[in-house]
Amino acid sequence: MRASTTVIRAILLASVALTQQTFGQQFKNPDNLGPDVPTPQSVVDEMLKVARVKPGETVYDLGCGDGRILITAAQKYDAKGVGVEMSRDIYEKTAARVKAMGLDGKIQVIHGNALHTDLTPADVVTLYFLTSSNERLKPLLAKLHPGARVVSHDYAIRGWTPAQVFKVTSMGVVHVVYLYEVKPHS
Ligand SMILES: C[S@@+](CC[C@H](N)C(=O)[O-])C[C@H]1O[C@@H](n2cnc3c(N)ncnc32)[C@H](O)[C@@H]1O
Repeated sequence: MRASTTVIRAILLASVALTQQTFGQQFKNPDNLGPDVPTPQSVVDEMLKVARVKPGETVYDLGCGDGRILITAAQKYDAKGVGVEMSRDIYEKTAARVKAMGLDGKIQVIHGNALHTDLTPADVVTLYFLTSSNERLKPLLAKLHPGARVVSHDYAIRGWTPAQVFKVTSMGVVHVVYLYEVKPHS
């Protein structure tokens, strides 16, 4: 049952992404890296825990959706947050939400493209994109400072060796969390 829900969700995500890729040049932005599917809160909690977020650190959520990862990081770990969101509609709602919560001093929501983001200030980067999208982000992730952590929900970063991989079950669906740690550059 759990395996089948995971498969169904993966097919749904993949088919939305495929549709976007197939028709992207005609109807949608080809830089759309993934559909608007939020990470369940229990998975967010485990992602931030495994990232060992410290007070004052800066967490980037690429494709921040409703901002839940950054809001949790600010509230629970006293971290700063930067969210990059391509959809204007989602960006406007999330920026308004962050402001209404009084967190706009800690969380910056940017209407922009994750593929053109300078990640050098990031201590932690969170991702919930398809593996093929993560692949496109690798040149940016390669510039992270040693000690930075990347936490990816459900989709691995090909060619990178995770420090940890574990499962979190939410509403009967199994989610996989990948933790990557940036080693000193050689
Ligand atoms: C799967 S959702 C993840 C939302 C949030 N990070 C979470 O885990 O709850 C992906 C989000 O990325 C946004 N997105 C897709 N491509 C993007 C891009 N190139 N730059 C910025 N945001 C993007 C989508 O609009 C959507 O809100």
